[in-house]
Amino acid sequence: MTRKIAIFDTTLRDGEQSPGASMNTEEKLVIARQLLRLGVDVIEAGFPISSPGDFESVRRIAELAGDQATVCALTRAVEKDIDSAADALKYCKRPRIHTGIGVSPSHMRDKLRITEDECVERAVKCVAYAKKYVEDVEFYAEDAGRSDYAFLARVIEAVIKAGATVVNIPDTTGYSLPEEFGARIEYLMNHVDGIENATVSVHCHNDLGMATALSLAGVRCGAAQIECTINGLGERAGNTAMEEVVMAIKMHGEELDAHTDINTREFIKASRLVSSITGMGVQANKAIVGANAFAHSSGIHQDGVLKKRDTYEIIDPADVGAGQSQIVLTARSGHAALKHRLEELGYELEGEPLDQVYDAFLNLADKKKEVYDEDLESLVNERERNESALYSLEGVQISCGFPLTPTATVTLRNQADQVVTACEFGTGPVDAMCKAVNKIVQVDNDLTEFSVQSVTRGIDALGEVTIRVTAPDGDVYTGRGADGDIVVSSTKAYLNALNRLLNDKQGKRG
Ligand code: KIV
Ligand code: ZN
Repeated sequence: MTRKIAIFDTTLRDGEQSPGASMNTEEKLVIARQLLRLGVDVIEAGFPISSPGDFESVRRIAELAGDQATVCALTRAVEKDIDSAADALKYCKRPRIHTGIGVSPSHMRDKLRITEDECVERAVKCVAYAKKYVEDVEFYAEDAGRSDYAFLARVIEAVIKAGATVVNIPDTTGYSLPEEFGARIEYLMNHVDGIENATVSVHCHNDLGMATALSLAGVRCGAAQIECTINGLGERAGNTAMEEVVMAIKMHGEELDAHTDINTREFIKASRLVSSITGMGVQANKAIVGANAFAHSSGIHQDGVLKKRDTYEIIDPADVGAGQSQIVLTARSGHAALKHRLEELGYELEGEPLDQVYDAFLNLADKKKEVYDEDLESLVNERERNESALYSLEGVQISCGFPLTPTATVTLRNQADQVVTACEFGTGPVDAMCKAVNKIVQVDNDLTEFSVQSVTRGIDALGEVTIRVTAPDGDVYTGRGADGDIVVSSTKAYLNALNRLLNDKQGKRG
């Protein structure tokens, strides 16, 4: 039997740190359900001290997970962070506190302004403090990828003595080369007294496009846990993509002496869910989950695949949940059929929320006859976006064309239930719409990205618009909106981005 490698998902924590990928608690719960379907071993649900929203997400995900997965909360090496994490995990069946400190010369000297001795002392102190609350304490040695081997070994040995059950060796800046990172893990395996009493974890970033290779190098040399995210979401260039590292282990399990317990058939669903909730699209040529990952276009390749699939395909698409027959719903499909399909897609809706999605579904089915999974995901997400909205769209009317001056009239409802209308001119229809919305909402922002994508195929497909806005403090917010009319989608997307910005700033002030 090969070694079991634990999969630690951090989509909801490191993944959420991607600019513009912030999620609310309900959205995180939808993703957490899918992570449980995937069978991940650990869900890092958030950083409780960072905001009331993060605290609540950790608490609710802990409740949801029961004993199906360990739920982990991040902290700095600071007592009040650890208190908050312990509080959020109070009713968790399998709680883990993830605490740690920077260990590279750059982090100690320039960020923390501490000596090596002080670093070891703080590392030990935070593990011992967390240990008062939970048995399972993971220590992260931030920027371990650029740390001194001997000093890293000294810190790791000390925290294991203090009770750390898992020691995380992150390549925080994605700096390492795979052979070197593997050698670092090997060094720890051979030089740390008591290393056999802890699980060694790897947490790699993708700044040089090598996060998957680094994680596998770590596994080859003794790591037994990989920290990763769906679609490789994460800070800057992202983290190790779960679908990549798990499929690589599945393909090369014997050589790596490793296996995972992940249900790989859930990957495509997970990828689509995370992309649609965060607004972070997946590039078409992305390994495993990209739209072209199993598409063969050259004649020679097509000929080969038709003769025998494995001439050009190393993975059976069905193994990752790709190319499965789509159930198409129509206006004749009832409540039960919709509910059932939504559950298969990862959404559990009852009562009024289900009725609202059903109404929207009937509306759409009237217009476009066949409703695909992507349309349903879009309708559910649209409903969730409206639920947390401070401003909701009552109407939008645009006049544009040649030689007209584009004009937009937008009507919004605010939280005090007042309906306000504004009219503006612009250089184009979207510019005019944004100006009209800004006149009502009055929040400083810069629209930095705008893209339209059709949700499914055909002329009657829903058009999904993604908009990114930057607040004056540099924070980025993503908004999405879907409709058969792309001017309406654009208005919904812009409003969604502004609602997120306002909710976030209010939450932070709260
Ligand atoms: O990249 C990193 O070092 C991290 C730690 C907080 C685990 O995300
Ligand atoms: Zn990280």
